[in-house]
Amino acid sequence: MTDRPRILLTGAAGYIATHTWLALAEAGFDVLGVDNFANSSPKVLDRLAPLLGHAPRLEVLDVTQTDALQDLLRREPVQAAVHFAAYKAVGESTQKPLDYYRNNLMSLISVCEALRSQGCHRLVFSSSATVYGDPGVLPLREDAPTTSTNPYGATKLVGEQILRDLGVADPAWQTACLRYFNPVGAHPSGLIGEDPRGTPNNLMPYVAQVAVGRRERLQVFGNDYPTHDGTGVRDYIHVVDLANGHVAALRRLLEQPGSFTVNLGTGQGYSVLDVVRAYEAASGRPIPFDTVPRRPGDVAACWADPTHAHQLLGWQARHGLARMCEDSWRWQRLNPLGYDSPTPDTP
Ligand code: UFG
Repeated sequence: MTDRPRILLTGAAGYIATHTWLALAEAGFDVLGVDNFANSSPKVLDRLAPLLGHAPRLEVLDVTQTDALQDLLRREPVQAAVHFAAYKAVGESTQKPLDYYRNNLMSLISVCEALRSQGCHRLVFSSSATVYGDPGVLPLREDAPTTSTNPYGATKLVGEQILRDLGVADPAWQTACLRYFNPVGAHPSGLIGEDPRGTPNNLMPYVAQVAVGRRERLQVFGNDYPTHDGTGVRDYIHVVDLANGHVAALRRLLEQPGSFTVNLGTGQGYSVLDVVRAYEAASGRPIPFDTVPRRPGDVAACWADPTHAHQLLGWQARHGLARMCEDSWRWQRLNPLGYDSPTPDTP
């Protein structure tokens, strides 16, 4: 037993969730993790333990199974949930739309129902900058128009709508929609980080695998965008900063009434070639690349106006691109096969 506020963390073994787990624990919360390891490895638990100073508490459970989740929460009531459990690959979502709608929407609905059944009405939701579609005006403020361009993005847009509707129907609900920009990097310990299955879809994990020799060359998707060097520009945010954004959001929900939607980004855009150069500097390795045609569905540029998160939550990102690459490289170098690598010595 503990008198620290207990928080349900769904999708707890995933990339952003594990970093958020640590941030929550450091902030004095008691974390109850659930995951079904659909897209993560149980080995992450052995890595979390030395960082937490105790064994992480994780129930293997599919959160779309509302009855099982309700049973768990009856035994272990929580003060709030941080809901990460979802599928997240844009390309895959266009191939398997039903899987995405079913999993991402059912899991959100199920978590809300299970929370409500134990009298808890606080939820932090993982949304995404993808809800802005092809941005008209940069930087993006939270009141910019939203749209969806693929089933994954649609599940985030509808997820936000579900939470707004819930708040209208029952003002007891307090929800936070966090629109992530591009999470990268890893915990500075080198013990936890991003471990994509198969070929990475995202830029930095791909670059990391080229640097470590797992892949030969990067493909740069297009060099004819209207950006400073022709390659796509994004707002990369260190995953530890992002994790701290969740703590700030949760504190606000626990301390004050009301619901909110905030961007979690740095406000700074970097191109693909900027990232390649920064990674070469951090790793001391060359990143050979070929320029290939644009990837369908990609936008030229996307970065946040993070002012609202700063004003509302007192949160802002602290780490720059060099640090993101250094921490990513430490993780990749120490764990060339991700969580299938032998555990590195703890620092
Ligand atoms: N890129 C390459 N080569 C690669 C991978 C990516 O050149 O091998 C480029 C892309 O064209 C883009 C940039 O690197 O210009 C970043 O691409 P990512 O795939 O890393 O990130 P995206 O911005 O496309 O996607 C991310 C998240 C999505 C989310 C989206 C919008 O992965 O979940 O941001 O918020 F929907």
